[in-house]
Amino acid sequence: MNWNVEKIKNDAQNDAAQVVDTRSLEEFRIKYLGKKGILQEMYASLAAAPLEEKPVLGKNVNILKTSLTQLFEQKKTEIETAQKQAAHKVLDISLPGVASGKGHRHVLHQTIDDICRIFEGFGFAVEEGPEIETEFNNFDALNIPKDHPSRDGFDTFYVSEKDPDRKGMHQLLRSQTSPVQIRVMQKHAPPLAVVVPGKVYRPDAVDASHSFMFHQIEGLLVDADVKFSDLKGLIDVFLKRLFSDEIQMRFRPHFFPFTEPSAEVDISCYICKGKGCSVCKRTGWLEIMGCGMVHPRVFEAVGYPKGKYTGFAFGLGVERLAMLRYGIHDIRLFFENDMRFVKQF
Ligand code: DAH
Repeated sequence: MNWNVEKIKNDAQNDAAQVVDTRSLEEFRIKYLGKKGILQEMYASLAAAPLEEKPVLGKNVNILKTSLTQLFEQKKTEIETAQKQAAHKVLDISLPGVASGKGHRHVLHQTIDDICRIFEGFGFAVEEGPEIETEFNNFDALNIPKDHPSRDGFDTFYVSEKDPDRKGMHQLLRSQTSPVQIRVMQKHAPPLAVVVPGKVYRPDAVDASHSFMFHQIEGLLVDADVKFSDLKGLIDVFLKRLFSDEIQMRFRPHFFPFTEPSAEVDISCYICKGKGCSVCKRTGWLEIMGCGMVHPRVFEAVGYPKGKYTGFAFGLGVERLAMLRYGIHDIRLFFENDMRFVKQF
């Protein structure tokens, strides 16, 4: 075959002028220097050429090879240099930076902080406990009977198999922050006063007012001569600080296994000022927390000497309180991470 070496050279020069990036460079390489490229084709036909033409043909092919390779190398260097310069431009440290958006604490954590700050003002310490608890701390030590429905697998997430031989030592996701009362008392002798914020878990179907995970704040104060009136006075001042001085409060008799006597605390509905509206279901009152005097069996479970101490405990749900405080109607909003919600607080 007759190869027009000059034309190939010319074409290559024109093609090389079009090479502007790594991709077009690779296309150039494949076309001229690749395994199925023009140069390889020429080598193949050289083998088949008549003997007397071989020296001239061979020389031409070699010259072409050199110039094609040079063209390729030259373009390659050009592109690499251009890329390096572009990278330098991206790293221009004299340009003003791009400011990242400022975050803030989630409304639930703001609420937890507000409540803990108020109790710190009363001299309470803030403690935390683990979310995976023993059945002993979550139930037994809190005087919750063995057949209590809250121990059922439908009301508590068990982490380990139910095994009667393990005597309350198997693991669960705590269903309340109350087990931290046990941990604190096992570690410290009275006088003590703590508040304990944290996550709790219950296998509830999720809807506007239920979530399988929510937050509680537990309170515990133990000393030599603590009275029910101390509890009532403290809760009254706490609610006034959190809501407002105008807020009314009432204690309603209730039952909790770990306190005796026990009460539920209501505040006057601050939306209708007690007149009755849809938020307070026309009662004028909003249920806000549970509380009571620590049951002697709880003191017994942590090994405190009989009859030496008295104390009170209380527990409140953070989501419920934040919903009332800010007029939020759906608990799911707290956990969906929708910035349109989160940024409002
Ligand atoms: N643990 C209770 C619950 O989850 C709340 C509670 C009520 C805590 C009364 C207390 C208390 O410490 O005294 O429903």
